[in-house]
Amino acid sequence: MSKGAEINAVDKTVVTDWLKIRADFPILQQQVHGKPLIYFDNAATTQKPRAVLEALRHYYEKDNANVHRGLHELSSRATEAYEAARGRVAEYLGAANADEIVFTRGTTESINLVAQAWGGKFLRPNDVILVTEMEHHSNLVPWQLVADRTGARLRFVPVRDDGTLALDQLSSLLTEEVKLFAFTHVSNSLGTINQVEELCRRARAVGALSLVDLAQSAGHFPVDVREMGCDFAAFSGHKMCGPTGIGVLYGRAEILDAMPPWQGGGEMIVSVTLEKSIYKKAPQRFEAGTPNIAGAIGLAAAMDYLEAIGREKISRHDAGLTAHAIEQLAEIPGVRLLGPKDPRGALAGFVMESVHPHDLTTFADRQGLALRGGHHCNQPLMKKFGLSGTTRASFYFYNTLEEVDRMIEILHQAARFFS
Ligand code: ALA
Repeated sequence: MSKGAEINAVDKTVVTDWLKIRADFPILQQQVHGKPLIYFDNAATTQKPRAVLEALRHYYEKDNANVHRGLHELSSRATEAYEAARGRVAEYLGAANADEIVFTRGTTESINLVAQAWGGKFLRPNDVILVTEMEHHSNLVPWQLVADRTGARLRFVPVRDDGTLALDQLSSLLTEEVKLFAFTHVSNSLGTINQVEELCRRARAVGALSLVDLAQSAGHFPVDVREMGCDFAAFSGHKMCGPTGIGVLYGRAEILDAMPPWQGGGEMIVSVTLEKSIYKKAPQRFEAGTPNIAGAIGLAAAMDYLEAIGREKISRHDAGLTAHAIEQLAEIPGVRLLGPKDPRGALAGFVMESVHPHDLTTFADRQGLALRGGHHCNQPLMKKFGLSGTTRASFYFYNTLEEVDRMIEILHQAARFFS
């Protein structure tokens, strides 16, 4: 048995050989500044296994052509692979059918699409869009833009000192004026895991739609949009072993069908005259121009890869790494950890007394340790906690407990160095 294997405590059988899985990621087998790379910036982007790199290579070496337009063999293959990827995403998310899956560039574009297309058509002056204080800028700025355009207003669910949402205030905030409640599943700074099913149910009860930002969860836990009961969900391929530049908007069929296009061009029309166009149905209506065909194929390969390991297993492994990190971070002199202890997503955001997060991140980098320092696209949240930023370690299934221990050693060194 290799060192990274996990033993099932009940029956003592080897359930997963994590070190073997880690070997699927060529990028992890390198030194940075003369030290073995420890990659703990997974909430920003994850690394890619060979299976995904091979799927991209296969597509470009064998099948590359534009989709839909060409009546030739390669175009048929490319179209088939692209639409099969849509079906794969629907299955991964538990969507009712593939027409509920729109390919986008990522979470940000997915949310902008809803804000502009749905919000632009359905929001009226004084309607309310409810978001939370823990949203990434990508789930805040698009709503500010559409509020400016339509006269709608934003309202915010506060975050408590422990990093959880002040749900005791939800009844007074989630009123019938609210037309859409947009919130994250897992906070990218605090690690808070929100109770998606409950929040979607509360939105439905006042006739509001719900949009869930799955950016920090789709690659970490099992997520099922029908169980969650959400109307929209958004995530990025690159945070779950897929390529950059591909993401997904899930929307319930009847809602997508009622939305106008948000971008015009090729691929999204049935017919065009100089004066007027007739648009295709969803999802093609929302995919103007040549899509990221390779990206969609790579994303489907990433989903196959993650499901071959098992999303439950990944989530347990990530939780083990996170708990191990949090326990030891708390013992480093001058370190203050943000967010709830348990449950939490696979990340730890913290501040070290009298050290700027950028300096700490640079110190770590010299030891081969990749962390992220800054406001993490959460400026209002940072302001709420009286901080300009934090340092964040974020984990994934290819990381090891030994790497967490090494990070803790490096942070102890930093605490001594900066004091
Ligand atoms: N949204 C990404 C992060 O939190 C980039 O790091």
